[in-house]
Amino acid sequence: MSNRITFDFANMFTSRVGEHGLDQNVVLQAAAKLPAVDQALRDKRSAMAWRDLPYQPAAVLDKIKAAGSYLRENFDTLVILGIGGSALGSKALLSACAGPYYRLMEKRPGACRVLVEDNVDPDRMNSLLETVDLKRTAFHVISKSGNTVETMSQFIIVLELLHRHLGADFQKHLFITTDKSTGILKKLSDANGWDTFTVPDGVGGRFSVFCPVGLLTAAAAGMDIDALLAGCAEMDKACSLPNIPDNPAYLYALLYTMAMAKGVNISVVMPYVDALAPTAEWYCQLWAESLGKRSDLQGRQVYAGQTPVRALGVTDQHSQIQLYTEGPFDKIISFLGVEQFASKLTIPEAPLPLPELAYLYGHSLNELIEAERRATVYAVTKAGKMNNSIILDKLDEFSFGSLLYFFEVATAAAGELLGIDAFDQPGVEEGKKATFALMGRAGYEEKAAELNAAAASSDWICRV
Ligand code: PA5
Repeated sequence: MSNRITFDFANMFTSRVGEHGLDQNVVLQAAAKLPAVDQALRDKRSAMAWRDLPYQPAAVLDKIKAAGSYLRENFDTLVILGIGGSALGSKALLSACAGPYYRLMEKRPGACRVLVEDNVDPDRMNSLLETVDLKRTAFHVISKSGNTVETMSQFIIVLELLHRHLGADFQKHLFITTDKSTGILKKLSDANGWDTFTVPDGVGGRFSVFCPVGLLTAAAAGMDIDALLAGCAEMDKACSLPNIPDNPAYLYALLYTMAMAKGVNISVVMPYVDALAPTAEWYCQLWAESLGKRSDLQGRQVYAGQTPVRALGVTDQHSQIQLYTEGPFDKIISFLGVEQFASKLTIPEAPLPLPELAYLYGHSLNELIEAERRATVYAVTKAGKMNNSIILDKLDEFSFGSLLYFFEVATAAAGELLGIDAFDQPGVEEGKKATFALMGRAGYEEKAAELNAAAASSDWICRV
């Protein structure tokens, strides 16, 4: 097994951070729960088909790769219409493997520019539609349920636009990923004879980046899908080991849930790699939506979860780190780093006299960002705050696949340790139903009345 990611959990323990850390002996005793967790995850395998995604059949991958080639040959831009788990994986992937400025990239040989439209802000959507050349733009509509109001609204707007401007050719610009049999999107596709990509059963939105939801993005952007999945498979091997510390996902889940039990209710992810900033956003959804649950598996009210926060090194050293160092002992900070950046930038000798800054000449930004990461780890550890470091040897499709897959298994294991269902999202569903009601969907009249009554009865509004 290669050593492409190093997980350093030493700063989670009292031996490093003092009384607010975890006691190693207690953790070792608690590790006795892990065989049961491992077994429970194996028993739930049908609800966790995302664990099979590293090993997808060649026919499925060939179809995605062929669509990627078609997109790259015929279009400059691919716009993703989707939200939540249907969008965040693509954003993370694009930034990590196509670079933080991927949105600004013009057509490059062998790659489409891929844009992710994951909001229904009218100004943003109008700007997008004014910016892209429809004739050179394809749209990938992604919705597992095929019913999500935001994605369906975007879809109708785009459908009408394409139809009006391109006539019968409009269908060539549409790519659809949805459930194999249910939902409005599938019904419409079947009625029109459109081929669709499938989100397999047992692959929930936030666990779907390695199915066509994210893989078509990778293919259109000219990324190496095989390397991405090989990275997942490599991590799957480690995450299938029964013991800690060999299984980093079980160790992460154990340490984080033990910290939660001590009231540590915030999980900060702080990459010191700009391209991983959207990965922190992806993590926030995964951790929040999977673990934030009112009830446990026995139906008891437990109000489980830990609030994820995204930060960016070094940028947030000048905003949030003051709080992380001197504020409450209510968080774990996970630092993400890379050993080798793809490029190097050396600080040259200034062309004007600057003796006070001469100490920087000849050093590189690579050295500076690494020094700042190490310095911050040192500072928060000295301040007694639990933290850990996850260091990739370099950022590419392989290591990115490994990293995301690790977080997915860690989240599933944490759900098991908390005794909750990590794969549903009843809180999100309630908001979806309320939106249907407010938008006048038939069958939601009672909900609309309830919402309107609540809005009308408030005395606590101040208008200035
Ligand atoms: O993780 C999830 O299940 C959610 O975030 C969904 O991805 C999100 O609500 C979008 O749902 P859908 O893909 O059905 O449109």
